[in-house]
Amino acid sequence: MSFKKIIFKKKPIVCLTSYNKFFANIADEFCDLILVGDSMGMAYYGDKTTRQVSMDNIIRHAKSVRKGIKKAIFVVDMPFKSYGTKIIAKKNALKIIKETNCDAVKLEGGMEISKIVEYLVKNKINVMGHIGLLPQKIKSNKDYKIKGKTLLENKKILKDLKSLQEAGVFSIVLEAVKHSTALQVIKNSSVPIIGIGASKNCDGQILVLEDMLGLFEKVPKFVKKYSNLKKEIKIAIKKYALDVRKGKFPYKKNIYY
Ligand code: KIV
Repeated sequence: MSFKKIIFKKKPIVCLTSYNKFFANIADEFCDLILVGDSMGMAYYGDKTTRQVSMDNIIRHAKSVRKGIKKAIFVVDMPFKSYGTKIIAKKNALKIIKETNCDAVKLEGGMEISKIVEYLVKNKINVMGHIGLLPQKIKSNKDYKIKGKTLLENKKILKDLKSLQEAGVFSIVLEAVKHSTALQVIKNSSVPIIGIGASKNCDGQILVLEDMLGLFEKVPKFVKKYSNLKKEIKIAIKKYALDVRKGKFPYKKNIYY
């Protein structure tokens, strides 16, 4: 296992999630960073939250993604409850790194986990932070609320930023925050800020691949759908079903004579 300090060569930093080799391989051509996010609980497994994603789950998908990446920085999310103490966090982070050969792990939280982050960094583990809206804290749909709207939230986010920077993260994801708060975070940060529902002034942006491909009807306001994959898939499956029912498929060329 090798430890390489992560430095982004150019900005803006283009990031996407991926849960398998095939999408990762396409994203690798255009993106600077690929994340195996625990959003897979919702966007792949159809769960209500990210909390059901386990260590085995994330490692299984990350092993697949590793096969699709040649150049992008490869980050893997540490699942809910996998970094409760310094010792547990180190054990699980090392397991993820050893089994998937990723470049870094991502942990959600600020001040409350900064000592754990510091410990991982001291043990030569690259850590990406995640502040603002924290999906692992969400138990149901009603918990999805933009952060940084009150003075208290704004102060907390800025304290989270400071504590993670001091702990040694190489970058931070800033999710679903009020624009004025995002601008303060960007201004006060010494590490690249990767926005998702934050600001175009961030050092980079990240989206969940399935969201931006248009696989789902309902997505947060911060998502731009760059395709309508749901419609395309529907058309293809409808054509296939019709062909089978009409006895048109398989065609001659699909049969071994
Ligand atoms: O789990 C995930 O995909 C994430 C991104 C949305 C940043 O954390």
